[in-house]
Amino acid sequence: MDNDCSICNERANRDMLFADSERSYKTKRPLCLLYVLLVLSYILILALFITVLYKTTSDSSQSQSSSAQLRDLTDKVLAEANSTRNAEVKLKENKFNIDVLKNEVQLIGSKSEKSNMDFEKLAIQVADIRAQLRDLEISSKNISCKVDWEFYRDSCYFFSTSKHDWSDARSMCKDKGADLVVINSRSEQKFINSIIADSSEKRFWIGLHDRSTEDDWEWVDGTVYQSSYKNWGPGEPNDAEYNEDCAHVQEIGSWNDMNCDYSQFNAICEQKLSA
Ligand code: BGC
Ligand code: CA
Repeated sequence: MDNDCSICNERANRDMLFADSERSYKTKRPLCLLYVLLVLSYILILALFITVLYKTTSDSSQSQSSSAQLRDLTDKVLAEANSTRNAEVKLKENKFNIDVLKNEVQLIGSKSEKSNMDFEKLAIQVADIRAQLRDLEISSKNISCKVDWEFYRDSCYFFSTSKHDWSDARSMCKDKGADLVVINSRSEQKFINSIIADSSEKRFWIGLHDRSTEDDWEWVDGTVYQSSYKNWGPGEPNDAEYNEDCAHVQEIGSWNDMNCDYSQFNAICEQKLSA
């Protein structure tokens, strides 16, 4: 009986304990839920805070880099504007210097033109005085030209009435102790023109040819062609048909190159007078 009772007590104790724990469990459940909810809301708030913080930081770093770029750009634009201004100033300076140089060149040009003109005038005057001196010398020695010869400055000239080709014309002049005329100046040309104007003959061979080398003109007395007087007609010498190597004066006084074998021209011979 005692044994039975102890078992009963044990069971009764166990039941009581179980009932206690169940009661305590039932009272604690809503509290646990509240805790869980609290933890969850805390986590959510934390997450929200971190997101906001991150966003703010990234926005601010972005805006920081943009403003740095803007500052950079502004600096560059300012530097560019500065260098453009400098270049403009330099350009103005250069333009001024160029204008000054231009003026100087113009001044020098006009001065040299004037001195060239003065020099040319002087040279003509000297040549004229020399010729007059020579005229005086000749007349003082009573030198004169033969009959049918014309006198001009320090030469006698023969204007043929017969027709020749260039070689025959030259031979004819040489036979007379002369040579085909060498025209050295405008004044000599004017003298020749005045005789032709009064003559019935209009075309005369002169002592100029390029028979040795095409376009390399030579005077019969060795006068240098390049640096001496010339009076070619317009477009002459043209070496027409590649066959014109001898020169003649035309009716108007200017020169033309012609086939040397053409035998219908007169000739002008020139004999230098030795003082
Ligand atoms: C030309 C000359 C040429 C001549 C020949 C003229 O019409 O102008 O250059 O020498 O003919 O006869
Ligand atoms: Ca010609």
